[in-house]
Amino acid sequence: MRTVFLGPPGAGKGTQAVRLGRERGLPHVSTGDILRSAAASATTLGEQVRGYMEAGDLVPDEVMNAVVEERLRQSDCMDGFLLDGFPRTRPQAEALDRMLADRDRTLDVVVYVDVPQEELVRRLSGRRLCVECGANLNVADLAESAVERCPKCGARLVQRTDDEPETVSNRLEVYEQTTAPLVEYYEQRGLLRRIDGLGTPEDVYRNILAALTPTDE
Ligand code: AP5
Repeated sequence: MRTVFLGPPGAGKGTQAVRLGRERGLPHVSTGDILRSAAASATTLGEQVRGYMEAGDLVPDEVMNAVVEERLRQSDCMDGFLLDGFPRTRPQAEALDRMLADRDRTLDVVVYVDVPQEELVRRLSGRRLCVECGANLNVADLAESAVERCPKCGARLVQRTDDEPETVSNRLEVYEQTTAPLVEYYEQRGLLRRIDGLGTPEDVYRNILAALTPTDE
């Protein structure tokens, strides 16, 4: 199953793709995770992308296309993948089509997680990540006395720098202008599955399973 997860920042793409990947035995390819790990190290890629990410702007298409092409060439992606965060522009979508066509493959399905803006802001401003186990939590779900330590392993919880309010509003604007048009791009090709992203993560996961058809897999 070659799948793209599409949706605005904070829609829950990562949360759902991780789970579907675990249950279907498919790699979760998150461009945000790849870039964050590059940005945290002293690599050329890290230096190229750090400024864009901190501002909530998109990394240039040619950089992203090369990153994804290299990742999809790895052996674990040969039988399918869950792409989370790519494509985000029309040129990236066309580049993905070309990468797959070069291997006589096509995309099977695009899972579009739809969440209203007010809820996106709530989820992003409250998101905290554990520095040790990577748990992804929301302060709204934690007791006030527990917002600094991970309830799973006790390590420190941190906020993503691009989850600061000003950067969040830029990310949402960039999404509307540049990425949202891909909904129509994939809808016209009959690949889009529109998922109601409100409700608990469990509810949303059920919505995704209900929307996938045997031909998607
Ligand atoms: P990236 O990491 O991809 O960020 P994003 O798309 O903005 O998405 P997020 O990770 O913020 O949200 P998500 O939808 O995965 O939600 P999550 O599951 O975490 O990209 C970061 C940056 O990298 C970009 O800004 C850009 O600079 C660069 N970049 C990456 N890809 C690029 C590309 N292709 N081209 C150019 N630049 C690129 O959930 C969010 C929160 O909500 C969590 O706290 C979670 O616990 C909670 N939550 C999840 N589901 C629910 C639910 N159902 N109910 C309540 N809370 C929920």
